[in-house]
Amino acid sequence: MRILKYILSVFAVIFSLGGAQAQDTESTSGLYAQYQLEIVIAVAGLVCLAALLALFTALYALRSIAALEHPQEQVVKESWWQRFWSNINKAVPVEQEATVMTSHEYDGIKELDNKLPPWWLYGFYFTILFGVGYLLHYHVFGTGDLQQEEYDKQMAQAKEEVETYLASQGNRIDESTVTFSDDPADLAVGKQIYDANCLVCHGTEGQGVVGPNFTDKYWIHGGDMASIFSTIKYGVPEKGMIPWETQLTPQQIQQVSSFIYTLEGTNPPNPKEPQGELFERGESSTSEESEAI
Ligand code: HEC
Repeated sequence: MRILKYILSVFAVIFSLGGAQAQDTESTSGLYAQYQLEIVIAVAGLVCLAALLALFTALYALRSIAALEHPQEQVVKESWWQRFWSNINKAVPVEQEATVMTSHEYDGIKELDNKLPPWWLYGFYFTILFGVGYLLHYHVFGTGDLQQEEYDKQMAQAKEEVETYLASQGNRIDESTVTFSDDPADLAVGKQIYDANCLVCHGTEGQGVVGPNFTDKYWIHGGDMASIFSTIKYGVPEKGMIPWETQLTPQQIQQVSSFIYTLEGTNPPNPKEPQGELFERGESSTSEESEAI
């Protein structure tokens, strides 16, 4: 009973340590948090192994001493494996059944009072210890994640991975795949890029200064997304519109293109006169227009 208590307290200490450390290092060591349960189990397993080893060593020492004191008693020398095997299978052999026979007998069927096989019993003790450890870890100290939390964490992680994947996809956008994004976040970023790089020539509200007006229906190089994207990417250097592909990522060009796309039809004061050709949205002439640049 004492030993059981010790083992339980060892478990309790290990699990509470595991929990405390997990909180301390949460921000620094994601790896530790991820494998926390495995580490705790491994440490618990090692401790149990060490305890078993110590126990066997002690037993072996005792036997040696006994053998020294009574050398004549040690007749048959069994290997450790034979001893182990007979120990975990200890049962009264059939020939000695009479010694464990109970008085119960029904229709000629007699009942023996044989011991439970030790291998089974140890397995049973182990499940009890495991259950206690499990209970402490998940329900008492709360150091382990229950199913719902684990699920939520995995979903959050998967979401992050999807986002990084999509972001990397974003950098592959080109004039043949670009689409208009009405996501307010994209449009806000697009406006920031516009304010930082473009408004000197195109005006604070896209009304046009040196560069053309974005708020009318007239476009020099085409008013669909693919054409706008393409003009920004490759520029019109001979007319003073520089290529932006070295300074903006494809995703940023897509965002600023989307922002410019939303300007058509807004009526800012002092608009620059229309330049280029009337472009009606809906009748897209993407590929020809963008190749013409
Ligand atoms: C130095 C001035 C200047 C800056 C800065 C500038 N542009 Fe331009 N942009 C021009 C000029 C000039 C044209 C007209 C080119 C032409 O006549 O072919 C133009 C044309 C365009 C067109 C095509 C308009 C049409 O009618 O087809 C788009 C789209 C455009 N710019 C977007 C941008 C964006 C986005 C930025 C910022 C990232 C930017 N520009 C920065 C001067 C500028």
